[in-house]
Amino acid sequence: MPRRGILKLIHLLALVVCVSAVGDFDWTRNEKTSFYYGTFPTGFLWGAGSSAYQTEGAWNKDGKGMSIWDVFAHKKGKISSNETGDSSCDGYYKFKDDISLMKEMKLNHYRFSISWPRILPSGLKSEHINEKGIKYYNDLIDLLLDNTITPVVTLYHWDLPQVLQEKYGGWQNESMVSYFNDFGDLCFERFGNRVKHWITFNNPWSISVEGYETGEHAPGLKLRGTGAYKAAHHIIKVGFTEMATQVSDLDPKVGVIHFGLTDRLGCAVRRAAQQTSQL
Ligand SMILES: *[C@@H]1O[C@H](CO)[C@@H](O)[C@H](O)[C@H]1NC(C)=O
Ligand SMILES: *[C@@H]1O[C@H](CO)[C@@H](O)[C@H](O)[C@H]1NC(C)=O
Repeated sequence: MPRRGILKLIHLLALVVCVSAVGDFDWTRNEKTSFYYGTFPTGFLWGAGSSAYQTEGAWNKDGKGMSIWDVFAHKKGKISSNETGDSSCDGYYKFKDDISLMKEMKLNHYRFSISWPRILPSGLKSEHINEKGIKYYNDLIDLLLDNTITPVVTLYHWDLPQVLQEKYGGWQNESMVSYFNDFGDLCFERFGNRVKHWITFNNPWSISVEGYETGEHAPGLKLRGTGAYKAAHHIIKVGFTEMATQVSDLDPKVGVIHFGLTDRLGCAVRRAAQQTSQL
């Protein structure tokens, strides 16, 4: 995704929300150019996708730790117009409204990501679990299920806890593999009874190349020649761990969607986002 893609994606989500807020879709039904017309075949998974940083806001509320994106976006000149995701779509507070909009759009799937530092502020499961963060995701998942919307959860959509970046070098350090495993285990322990579709990484290319090689994305490092390879190596290593096996056990129909957004649940959203970011 180009540098400004993240904020463009927010605009896309805002657009979807605006469209859905109209309430009565009949007026678009027979227009060729309209977004909403016709019917889906039986069994079609109709959903929307988001990421924690791009939707939640509440970047420093209720015990959440900082992520590499919080720090990166706060540096002047990194993001177009110096924008940040500090409040974003306020999804942390408005998830009930968001779910009623999803219901109105007749979505039956919703893909979102869990913010690692919201539930583990220091990044480490052994240190401190932020129960307020856990409660937010519990409430979100429960309300989705009450509305017969199937949750699809991404574990890592780019927001590494800042502490892990600062202290250990983030994805340059092999120890991220076990820290990420602990975070994943916690998510399975707390949410696995209700969430059956899991995605490990969203767009690992961006994480590795734009995060550690070209520096266009958080954490903004330009470790040319080695940055991307080390990060990618450690991300791939996660795929050979117990946790990734658990992902496939929990979700035998979909299998390991180790690299998110290349699967059938994510590609439509991805394409829409790409088209939007090219506009
Ligand atoms: C972003 O911040 C920098 C540094 O303070 C400033 O020079 C620049 O004009 C700002 N850009 C916008 C679009 O506000
Ligand atoms: C990698 O992380 C470990 C902690 O898990 C730390 O002891 C070590 O110093 C780190 N290595 C580098 C190069 O930062």
